[in-house]
Amino acid sequence: MPYTAIVGLQWGDEGKGKVIDYLAKDYDAVVRFQGGANAGHTVYVNGKKFSFHILPSGLLREDVVGIIGPGVVIDPESFKREVEELSLHVGDLKGRLFVDPRAHIVMPYHKLEDALFEAHSEKPIGTTKRGIGPANRDKYARLGIRIGDILRPSYLKEHINRAYDFNKRIVESYGESFFDRDELWDLLMEFAEYVKPFVVDTVLLLEDLEKSGARILLEGAQGTYLDVSFGTYPFVTSSHTISGGATVGSGIAPWKIKRVIGVFKAYTTRVGEGPFPTEEISEIGERMKEEGGEFGTTTGRARRCGWLDIPLIHYASIINGVTDLFVTKVDVLEKIGIYRAAVEYKLFGERISFPPAYSEDWYHIEPVYKDYPSWEDMINEIEGILKVEVRFVSTGKDREEVIERKGG
Ligand code: IMP
Repeated sequence: MPYTAIVGLQWGDEGKGKVIDYLAKDYDAVVRFQGGANAGHTVYVNGKKFSFHILPSGLLREDVVGIIGPGVVIDPESFKREVEELSLHVGDLKGRLFVDPRAHIVMPYHKLEDALFEAHSEKPIGTTKRGIGPANRDKYARLGIRIGDILRPSYLKEHINRAYDFNKRIVESYGESFFDRDELWDLLMEFAEYVKPFVVDTVLLLEDLEKSGARILLEGAQGTYLDVSFGTYPFVTSSHTISGGATVGSGIAPWKIKRVIGVFKAYTTRVGEGPFPTEEISEIGERMKEEGGEFGTTTGRARRCGWLDIPLIHYASIINGVTDLFVTKVDVLEKIGIYRAAVEYKLFGERISFPPAYSEDWYHIEPVYKDYPSWEDMINEIEGILKVEVRFVSTGKDREEVIERKGG
C-alpha cells in the first residue's frame, strides 16, 4: 500500500521539513492533512533555506505532486505568498499543487480574534497568531467558509452572513470594529480567482494516484503533544497532529497507511506556553538554543529547550503506531557533548514510565535522567524501550546530511 505518514513525537519543530524533503526522493506525492500557516517546515538545499508554512514540503523536488487536504485551514495571504516564492525556484506549480474544496479558509477576523484572545487572556496559549484556533472553532461550529464555497459565489452569499455576524459579535466584544463586509467579500472573490486552478477533489486525485502505483507521503505538522486530544491540553493547537489525523484530514482509510515514521529531535524544544518536564532553564538550555538555531520558522520566537524525554516519545510512538524512527539534530548534541535523556518520571513519589493523562499532573513530573557515552548508545536504548528501529539519523541541516541505518 502506498501511504507513509510522517509525524512529530514531541512539540513540533522536530525537523519534519527536512525529513519530508529527504524522503520525498522516493515518493511521488506529499499530502498536508491538518494545521495551516502555523506550521513552519524548513528545508536547506545546497545551503539555501526554504520555509514552508502551508504548502507541502516535498514540492522542492520537481517531480513530486503536492496536495492540501480537507483538514488544512488555508490563509489566502500565506498561500499566495508561498506559491509565488516557490514558483520562482521550481517553476509554475499549476498541475503539481492541488487543493481540496473542503479545506477551510482562515479569514482576517480569525487572525484578529486569535491575537485579541491572546492579548486579553489571563493565561495565553502562546499561539502563532495565525488564526488557527478561531478558524477550526468555526469549522466545528459550522460557521466556516470553505475553498469550494468561494468558487460558488451565489451559494456563499446565502450562507456567509452567519459567519460574519457571529465573528462580528466576538470582535466587537473586545471593543474593536469589525471588517467591512464588502471588503471581505472582495478579498474572497479575488482569492477564488487565484486558487481556482489548483482546486480538485483530492480524494479522487489520491485514488487515481494510488491506482497508478504512486507512493504517497502524509506530512504531519506540529507534534503529538500539540494534538488537541492527546497533547498538553489546553496548550495545544486546534487539530489532530497524530497519524490518525491523516485519515480524517485527507480522506484516506486507516488501513492504507502501512508505515508511520516518527520524527524526534535528539533533545526537546517547545514554543509557547505549557508544561515541559525536561526543560533546561540554564546555560545548557541557552547553548541548545544557540547551537540548534532554535528560533521559530513562523514567528521567529525563541524556543524553550531541554533534554530528550524518552517516556514522552515512547507514549507518542504508541499513539501514532510508529513503525520507524527518524532522529534529527544529533550534531547539536555532539557540540554540547552531553548525551542525556529522561528515562522515567517521578510523580507523587511513584516511578512512572509514561506521561500522565491528567493536565495537572504534568506540572508535578520530575524526570529521572540517564547519561550515555554517545548518541549512538542513547539511540540503542531508545530502540530497546520503544521496540522500534531508528532507521534514519540527521546529522546536519542540508538535504544530504542523513545516515540511513539498517537499510532505511
Ligand atoms: P496555534 O497552532 O497557532 O493555535 O498555537 C498553539 C500552540 O501550538 C502554541 O504553543 C504554538 O507555539 C504551537 N505551535 C503551532 N504550530 C507550531 C509548529 O509548527 N511548531 C511548533 N509549535 C507550534
